[in-house]
Amino acid sequence: MFSKEIYARRRETLLRKMREAGQNGMVLFVGNVEAPAQYKDNCYKWRQDSSWLYFFGIDEPHYAALLDINTGAECIYADDVDIDDIIWMGPQPSVQSRAEGVGVAKSAPYAALEEALKGGRPVHFLPPSRYYNTMELARLMPGAEPSLPLIKAVVSMRLIKEDIEIAALDAACDLGYEMHSIGRDNIKLGIIEQDIVGKMEGFCLEKGWGVSFPTILTQHGETLHNHLHDKIIEPGKLMVIDAGCESNEHYASDFTRTYPTSGKFSTKQREIYQIVADCNELAYSITQPGITYREVHLAVARKMLEGLSALGLVKGDLDEMVAAGIAGLFQPHGLGHNMGLDVHDMEDLGENYVGYDEGQVRAKQLGLGSLRMARKLVPGHVITDEPGIYFIPALIEKFKKEGLGGDFVNYAALEGYYDFGGIRLEDDVLVTAEGARRLGHHRLPIAPDDVEAAMKSC
Ligand code: GLY
Ligand code: MN
Repeated sequence: MFSKEIYARRRETLLRKMREAGQNGMVLFVGNVEAPAQYKDNCYKWRQDSSWLYFFGIDEPHYAALLDINTGAECIYADDVDIDDIIWMGPQPSVQSRAEGVGVAKSAPYAALEEALKGGRPVHFLPPSRYYNTMELARLMPGAEPSLPLIKAVVSMRLIKEDIEIAALDAACDLGYEMHSIGRDNIKLGIIEQDIVGKMEGFCLEKGWGVSFPTILTQHGETLHNHLHDKIIEPGKLMVIDAGCESNEHYASDFTRTYPTSGKFSTKQREIYQIVADCNELAYSITQPGITYREVHLAVARKMLEGLSALGLVKGDLDEMVAAGIAGLFQPHGLGHNMGLDVHDMEDLGENYVGYDEGQVRAKQLGLGSLRMARKLVPGHVITDEPGIYFIPALIEKFKKEGLGGDFVNYAALEGYYDFGGIRLEDDVLVTAEGARRLGHHRLPIAPDDVEAAMKSC
């Protein structure tokens, strides 16, 4: 947790922004509750709501708070433990002391929230990230809708990381670096993928809160989010490892590297790998205040098509191919997303509110349409740089059958890549006043020679 002054300042800023946006009434925040996995007392791993963490820091279930936009009054609603709770959980700090610890002077039992919401004043709340809170908000305020002015105010604050958050993200990325190093060092032919996943995730639990999202570790990288880890590691494959740690402060990291399972890239693998590595580097080199991440995505698309052109997999004018969306056949996802307390930061508040400036319209094209962060960059943005090339037989066949690639795609040459798999390379990047900086104190090897040299165990 940060100091109480930080949470108090954030709440003050939020209320000021709401007043500046012409709003009045109250802001309601609801934290998460425990979520049963099989039955009431056997729950999923606890994780607090991220906006609650940002404004209140209290990492406990079943808390809510009301902030008065007009007067600045604040009250936290939660219940003190009773003797039954003490028997099972041990003594706990009082709600009042927890509230004071984050600069909120007043607290009340949770049941008092219902009464406090009566009176007809506007109540602003965020879209809930969990179904329980959807139901709870419907119970407290039947028919009420989340507040767009509140979404915009919260996004404007959480998008620009404070120095203390950047330090927390650097620390989370240092954990992510170690997690990935463990993964790379444990790739061995003949073992099951799950063996590596367990070691990587065990490290995250040892040093932090756990993983920041379910680990992707697969020899079928052409499936973008493959969460199966049941395959034996075979020679000659490419293994995509896309994984991150969440620190005890709940900040995320998110890295991807792709390894040749035999320890050495084949010529064919190295050619495609080098294109993705060049795209990753290009994106980083042009990331700076003033450019939009949409423009960076499109520059990467052009670079990718240039590389694929040199291999004879596509042909034609590069700009025309970019405009026709040909890059989407190979990279059907966006270049990156915001990262912070969530690995895809604030997407519970609405992807377009988070990733698009007013006036920016999200494309429909494959690839560009999945771009989660398109905004004009400003210092304090934290984004991922994660280009990839995937050979997805079903998608190639669809393009061919429906003529989606025009005359640009060499389908005959692509047949030789149906068993290739996929490659993704991802770093986490802070936009600075001068340009950009990769987060974390060490960078995972990425140049193909450096990757081979690092794969000592193969
Ligand atoms: N690293 C997983 C994702 O960005 O979706
Ligand atoms: Mn990512």
